[in-house]
Amino acid sequence: MTTTEEPGTETERLRGRIAAELARTRARTALLTEAVDDDDLMRQHSPLMSPLVWDLAHVGNQEELWLVRDVGGREPVRRDIDELYDAFKQPRKDRPTLPLLPPAEARAYLTTVRDKVLDLLDGIRFTDRSLVTDGFAFGMIVQHEQQHDETMLATHQLRSGPAVLDAPAPPEPRARVGDEVLVPAGPFTMGTSTDPWALDNERPAHTVELPAYVIDAAPVTNGRYREFIADGGYDDPRWWSEAGWRHRREAGLTAPLHWRRDGDGWAYRRFGRWSPVRDDEPVVHVCWYEAEAFAAWAGRRLPTEAEWEKAARWDPATGRSRRYPWGDEDPTGEHANLGQRHLRPAPVGAYPAGASPLGVHQLIGDVWEWTSTTFRGHPGFTAFPYREYSEVFFGDDYRVLRGGSFGTDRSACRGTFRNWDYPIRRQIFSGFRCARDARADEAHG
Ligand SMILES: [Fe+2]
Repeated sequence: MTTTEEPGTETERLRGRIAAELARTRARTALLTEAVDDDDLMRQHSPLMSPLVWDLAHVGNQEELWLVRDVGGREPVRRDIDELYDAFKQPRKDRPTLPLLPPAEARAYLTTVRDKVLDLLDGIRFTDRSLVTDGFAFGMIVQHEQQHDETMLATHQLRSGPAVLDAPAPPEPRARVGDEVLVPAGPFTMGTSTDPWALDNERPAHTVELPAYVIDAAPVTNGRYREFIADGGYDDPRWWSEAGWRHRREAGLTAPLHWRRDGDGWAYRRFGRWSPVRDDEPVVHVCWYEAEAFAAWAGRRLPTEAEWEKAARWDPATGRSRRYPWGDEDPTGEHANLGQRHLRPAPVGAYPAGASPLGVHQLIGDVWEWTSTTFRGHPGFTAFPYREYSEVFFGDDYRVLRGGSFGTDRSACRGTFRNWDYPIRRQIFSGFRCARDARADEAHG
C-alpha cells in the first residue's frame, strides 16, 4: 500500500470508492429482484411499469454499453439484446411481450458484465478522457442503476399480493418545525460545475436573482391534505387549472394513489400492507395537478425550481451554495430519509440535522417535491455524454421534481439533482411543499 503522500493514492481511493458503490448498488438490485419469484419478475404489475426482469437486464445492458464497450473498448458481451433493452425503442407497455432474458439468464448476464467492469477498473487511468474524469462514467452507471432501483421499488408498491419487502420505521419527530420560512431577496448560485458525478442537466453553475419569497418549512402533510379533501377540494374546479380539472375528471381522482376510505378516516397501502393514514407524514403519491390544486386552495403556489434550490442550498452566512441543506458532506441516516432505509416518508421533524441554515426541513429524502417549473437546460447546458439522458426531454411536457424520496439512493440525490415527470404521474414517490411571494412588510422587515 502507498501512503497518502505518494502519487497514485488518489486514484486508488477512487477505484475503491467506485467498486464499493457498484457493489452496494448491486446488493440493492438483488434485494428488489430476489424478493419475488420468477413468475412475478416476468409479470407486468402496471402498464406504467416494466416487468422487473426488464429493469434487471437493462441495468446490465447500460453497464455493458458504457463501461465494457465505450470506456473499456472491449468486445460486446451480448450485442444481440441491445435493442430489447433500449428504453427509447421499447415503450413500457410493450415490454412484457418482448422475448426478455429469463431471470436466471439475466442474472448471469449481469455477473458477466460486472466481472469485466471490475477487471477494467483495475487498470483504468481516470485522466484519459472526459468520460472517465473523476470516475464520471462509473458514477453515471451507479446512479442509473440506483434510479432503476427506485423505479423497481415503485413497481413493488404497485404489485398486488402479499408483502415481500420490510424495513424499520423511520425516526419519530425530534424537533418542532415552524410553518414557513422567509428567504430574502438576492442572488444565489444554482447548479454546479464542480460536483464530479453531477449529471449534465445539473450543470453549469450560474447565478439566479430571486425576489423575497416564503416557502413551507416542511413538505405538505397528510393531515393538511386531508383538510383539502374534506373541504371538497377534489370537487371544486376553482382550485384546479383547466388541464388539471380535465385530468381529475377523466382519471376519477378523489385522493392520493393507494388511499382508501376507512370508516371516518383514511388508510393507505404500502408495499402490500394497509395502515391508517398518519397526519404528520408528508403526503406521497400525488400528481402535479393535485399539488397545484392543493396550493391554490391553501392560498399558496408551488415553488419554482430555483426557489426550491435556493431554500435547499443557499447559506446566508457565506452567500455560497452548499451541496446539501446541511453542508457539503454526503448524507447519513441522521440527515435524511434516503435509500430505502425505510419504506415510507418520515414524519415532519424527524431530521433536524438535515435542515437548511434558514430552517427548512426535509428537502432531501422522504418525498420528491413537485415544482412549478418545466424541464429545461440550465443556461450554458451541454448534453453529456448523450442527448438521451436529459436533452430529449426538455420542453413543456415535464415538470421538475427535486430532493429525492425515501426510495432514492444518496448517490442520486444531491442538492442540485433534477428529476422530471409528466404532471399526471403519481406512481412515483411524489409530494410537494408550497410557497408564496413575500409581502412588502416581510420582504423589507
Ligand atoms: Fe434506464
